[in-house]
Amino acid sequence: MDNAQLFVITVVIITLITVGGGISLAIVLYKANSLMNKMKSVPAPDVIPEHGGHEAGLMETTRTDRWWFEPTWTGLGFLCFVIYANWAGFQGEHYWHGSYLSPFYSPVLFVDTVRVGAAPIEHAWFGLWPDWLRTIWPPFFPTSPAWLILAGPLAFRLTCYYYRKFYYRAYFLNPAACAVGAMPSNILLGPNSDQKYKGETALFLFQNLHRFTWYLAVVYIGLLSWDGFLSLWEGGKLFKGEFGIGVGSIILIINPLLLATYTFGCHSCRHLVGGRKNSFSGSIGARIRFSLWKKATWLNQRHMLCAWMSMIWVGFSDFYVRMCSMGIINDINTW
Ligand code: FES
Repeated sequence: MDNAQLFVITVVIITLITVGGGISLAIVLYKANSLMNKMKSVPAPDVIPEHGGHEAGLMETTRTDRWWFEPTWTGLGFLCFVIYANWAGFQGEHYWHGSYLSPFYSPVLFVDTVRVGAAPIEHAWFGLWPDWLRTIWPPFFPTSPAWLILAGPLAFRLTCYYYRKFYYRAYFLNPAACAVGAMPSNILLGPNSDQKYKGETALFLFQNLHRFTWYLAVVYIGLLSWDGFLSLWEGGKLFKGEFGIGVGSIILIINPLLLATYTFGCHSCRHLVGGRKNSFSGSIGARIRFSLWKKATWLNQRHMLCAWMSMIWVGFSDFYVRMCSMGIINDINTW
């Protein structure tokens, strides 16, 4: 499969998620509204329906709390992020200002220096945008380095256990919340389907790659930390430019820290440091692992919070660099 085909498939998937997300949200809001109007009370035990104690129809439930709130805000919030990230990645411009590099574009593999607000050539790992890449690059698509590196962080987020929970709920309504009727299989799998829920099998087996995407995410934390450090040097010129600090530097330094709270609270990380062990006592190595496991567990218990804070901050970092590069925001700094 060549890059052009990969690109088309990526665009189709993003479009499906975006459109599907919008439709799902509309259904959630509609159902939530009618549910609030009905305000059913919890039935007495002798009238609890079948299907494991909850109603079977799509979005049917005996719950009277605001179960719809979480799938709504998470679905809507992520949709906003996807739209912004795609728009920002599509620009291919204004991702560099002074010594600031937008995290959506890091690392810069190739740079097209013709584009406004592009990174300086010395910050591109492999130099100028090569001719061979131009020949296979879709003509309607700007030469944006963001598209070359987006797959790593995207794969990490999409296979995350927390993200899986929220997008299965918000976008696939399968089910939208605990004890709420799920999308019937004949809607998901076709009118003649009598298939039951099969878990994360078949196409969803790719979710098992999460451990490997975690390794990648750790590399990205290193890269973004380096960007934060470089942002302290005027023009991004290490030991050559004047050392200083700006609002943008602070934003770019906070970014990998927040990403670290998300990445090191990952279930895979917790298993990596504390798994496959019968005892945490005894050797120094075992006690170090116990200590790391406790820290990873502390972060893991706040995984959802870290996921959202880090994701919002990545978008905000891009926004700030972009606004500075476009001359809309005047960065306050010591240079
Ligand atoms: S489980 Fe969320 S990042 Fe691994």
